[in-house]
Amino acid sequence: MSTTKQARAVFCCTECGYESPKWLGRCPECASWNSFVERARERNGARGNGTTRISGVAPVEMAALPDEDEPRTPLGIPEFDRVLGGGLVCGSLSLIGGDPGIGKSTLLLQAAGRLAEGGRSVLYVSGEESARQVKMRAARLGLPGERLFVLTETNLNAALAQVEALSPSLVVIDSIQTVYSESAEQAPGSIVQLRQCTMELMRWAKGTGVPVFLVGHVTKDGEIAGPRLLEHIVDVVLYLEGERFSSYRLLRGVKNRFGSIDEVGVFEMTEQGMRGVENPSEAFISERARDGIGSVVIPTLEGSRPLLVEVQALTSPTVTPAPRRTANGLDISRLLLVSAVLSRRLGESLAQQDVIASVVGGLRVAEPPADLAVALAIVSSQRDRPVPGDLVAFGEIGLSGELRSVGQLERRLAEAERLGFGRCVLPEANLRRGKPKTGLDLLPAATLREAVRLALQ
Ligand code: TYD
Ligand code: MG
Repeated sequence: MSTTKQARAVFCCTECGYESPKWLGRCPECASWNSFVERARERNGARGNGTTRISGVAPVEMAALPDEDEPRTPLGIPEFDRVLGGGLVCGSLSLIGGDPGIGKSTLLLQAAGRLAEGGRSVLYVSGEESARQVKMRAARLGLPGERLFVLTETNLNAALAQVEALSPSLVVIDSIQTVYSESAEQAPGSIVQLRQCTMELMRWAKGTGVPVFLVGHVTKDGEIAGPRLLEHIVDVVLYLEGERFSSYRLLRGVKNRFGSIDEVGVFEMTEQGMRGVENPSEAFISERARDGIGSVVIPTLEGSRPLLVEVQALTSPTVTPAPRRTANGLDISRLLLVSAVLSRRLGESLAQQDVIASVVGGLRVAEPPADLAVALAIVSSQRDRPVPGDLVAFGEIGLSGELRSVGQLERRLAEAERLGFGRCVLPEANLRRGKPKTGLDLLPAATLREAVRLALQ
């Protein structure tokens, strides 16, 4: 009872770190076989023994704290800084995730290069590529390499010992899956190692004030390193996304302890690395055929950023017993819903038609307001009638064919107006609380049937 520390044997899964009071053949957490080892766990007898831990930190009255935001160092890449909330915060630990080959290393090396050009030193710890490979990439990106240090070390403790001598303004760990900490026995990339390394980096970043960026590969099921476990530890989580055959990349904030997660950065992967796209709406609709059949533009929202994207649909007589529905960059369940409503409520004969719907440019539009654009594109293709080139449309479609209001109306309208569109088909419900200020001609519709009539007269 009165002991402050108590040693207790526990069994621990070497793959995921799951703890159990008894040995298990199969881990209930990660389903690995024979992965349990026994280890003694130091238990702090904090509960029940009446002792109080004394720490050196005193409570601070909030009113006495400074008003300003955390001081930030801009990276000098506007699309990147926007997602970070203005720049790097001292001592922050950030994670950038994404599929292999999507451009994480490229983007971070460019950011490192910018800081170095601005007179700061940066350490790039590469566990994946040799120093020469990193150098070749830097050369391709046009980075001179002064003050840009590369370290090919997978022992995290050794790497951090090196950092102290350099005192850099940023440390990049590429990737967290390749480094290991001496205080855990598991292999690099195992969940125990990932957690241990990330926690050590967090302590280190907070202790030294040096911001750290981690690269994390996304596993097949789309999560960074298994059960999203790093996301809880780090301050900032960003994902770099894009379709394989498209050159556009979206940098999206998923968590940010120092800013909003509503921001996205848009890049294009070029021969000279990632180039920020200043006017993404213009880029995404630039190749659109005016008065195209089966093509509709929707002002969608990525976080709080409006983006115009083109939705296309093609219907063609099916040759399979059951007609097929294919969605690229759209939610397949929304496409099924839209097709079903078109068949049942509007009498469009889609029963013998394959329907393919895509978002142009390799973007993903998952929000329900895209329903109306998808529906109009399908009807336009099916009836071989063009949607006017100056028209945009959005609205969520309900099962009885009604149009439901969408959020952020004014942002959507403003973006469409800025890019020279003249008309907008939108849910009537959106105008119930007054007419928004816009130069666009508004064509309100209560139902999908009405919207089709307005758009395809
Ligand atoms: P990379 O940054 O290595 O991806 P990640 O770190 O996310 O795995 O990017 C790899 C791809 O990017 C590779 O297919 C080559 C391409 N690339 C360019 O197109 N332009 C460039 O300037 C660079 C450096 C890479
Ligand atoms: Mg890489």
